[in-house]
Amino acid sequence: MTQPSVTHWDSPRADAEPPRRRRWTLRSRLVLGIVALLAAASIVVGLVSVVALRGFLMDRLDDQLLAATGRTQPTSEELPPGGALGYPSRPSFGVQGPGTMVALTSGDVARAGVLTSDGTLDLLDDAHAAVLIGITEGDGPVTVDLGGELGEYRVVARELAPGILQVTGLSQSEVNGTVAQLLLVIGVVALVALAAAAAAGLVVVRLALRPLDRVAATAAQVSELPLDRGEVALAVRVSDDDADPSTEVGRVGAAINRMLGHVASALAARQASENKVRRFVADASHELRTPLASIRGYAELTRRGGYELPDDVVRSIGRVESEAVRMTSLVEDLLLLARLDEGRDLERAPLELVGLLADAVGDAHAAGPDHEWSLEAPEGPVIVNGDVNRLHQVVANLLANARVHTPEGTAVVVELSERADGVDIVVRDDGPGIPEKLLPELFERFVRGDSSRSRVAGSTGLGLAIVRAVVEGHGGTVSVASEPGRTEFRVTLPR
Ligand SMILES: Nc1ncnc2c1ncn2[C@@H]1O[C@H](COP(=O)(O)OP(=O)(O)O)[C@@H](O)[C@H]1O
Ligand SMILES: [Mg+2]
Repeated sequence: MTQPSVTHWDSPRADAEPPRRRRWTLRSRLVLGIVALLAAASIVVGLVSVVALRGFLMDRLDDQLLAATGRTQPTSEELPPGGALGYPSRPSFGVQGPGTMVALTSGDVARAGVLTSDGTLDLLDDAHAAVLIGITEGDGPVTVDLGGELGEYRVVARELAPGILQVTGLSQSEVNGTVAQLLLVIGVVALVALAAAAAAGLVVVRLALRPLDRVAATAAQVSELPLDRGEVALAVRVSDDDADPSTEVGRVGAAINRMLGHVASALAARQASENKVRRFVADASHELRTPLASIRGYAELTRRGGYELPDDVVRSIGRVESEAVRMTSLVEDLLLLARLDEGRDLERAPLELVGLLADAVGDAHAAGPDHEWSLEAPEGPVIVNGDVNRLHQVVANLLANARVHTPEGTAVVVELSERADGVDIVVRDDGPGIPEKLLPELFERFVRGDSSRSRVAGSTGLGLAIVRAVVEGHGGTVSVASEPGRTEFRVTLPR
């Protein structure tokens, strides 16, 4: 009989992995993507709107400017006869609206003024008017900065007489203001929309990913099941809603369900084959009992028959008998283990432990009079529920080990103590201890120390396997601690 191989579905443990850089969650990536896309779209829409509006407004301003230029007719007095440029004076510009800039330029001289709302002409100083020098009729409408409160003006030149240009300008501040206003509105609206999209995106993405969380929870639940031992009912499945293959998450859920189905049938197959092996071992050892009893019986009969037999025949028959006895106990152990594996063969009745331990220690003393045996137990009776024969066997196996695997003169102490929820039985000896490499698998079947002493004593390596199977069948635990000079087995049984 071998233990079922152990398969781990454990989630990878944090301490086993190298530290990974923190990754963005799908949720934040989706939301961030939505917000980034929306921001890019807002910027494009905003820029196109602003450029288009500005182009439209500038075209209109230029049309107005050209119309205004046509209306300007300076009087002949204003046109200097000999090249000296006079200031443009009010009457000749009467047909213009307030805010219009009018100017005359000639060579590197410029005279300019702006019409006020009460019909007078506000003259610009020469420094500001100088920006108008050099603008020619061929330039078409251009933008100049008149500085100060006037700001940007759209201006166009017209030749009045050779060398003398009339420059007319309309303020561009309304266009600039409108464009700035539009920019502000678009910016504010875009920011609000981005915030709203981020909030709504979070909600939507969270809702959309909720089925994924449920699928992950199912997978985590399965990973916590002890799949490596015994009969496992793998009933956990992703719910039908989350396993609808028409959605992305549903495909994951459906795949997990299919996988769980495969795992469940693999587990069932494993369990069936384990059962078959157990059955076989139980049947085989059961069948071996009868012929072994016959061999023993005939050997004994021959030995006691009073025949005149040569000495070496007598010795051989003695060997046949003792080996048959040894094999019988091996077969009994195997049968017992097979039955314990099947989960049967344990009675449940109240039993008294102090008396049981006293009997066992008495037997051990009789078998090993050269060891020192002692029992420390409470005064009154200690009752637990269990199978009296099997528990007796547990203690007998531990005591036999303390006798067989230690030299003569070793002191063996059996201690019984009560706790709130159970009892502890400790078997301790001051023998040479158990080899360290044996300890991790000491309770496995057929694990034994390699000393020739054990061989002589008829060691099988099944004693501690039986101890563990019986104790665990009672819902208890068994543990061992060993170093040279101190070996301690501790059996804990629940009440
Ligand atoms: N008290 C002990 N002192 C030293 N070695 C021990 C003791 N108990 C058990 N062992 C070691 O553990 C092995 C397994 O014990 P067990 O399962 O009872 O098999 P077996 O007694 O048939 O060899 C033994 O072969 C022995 O080497
Ligand atoms: Mg033993």
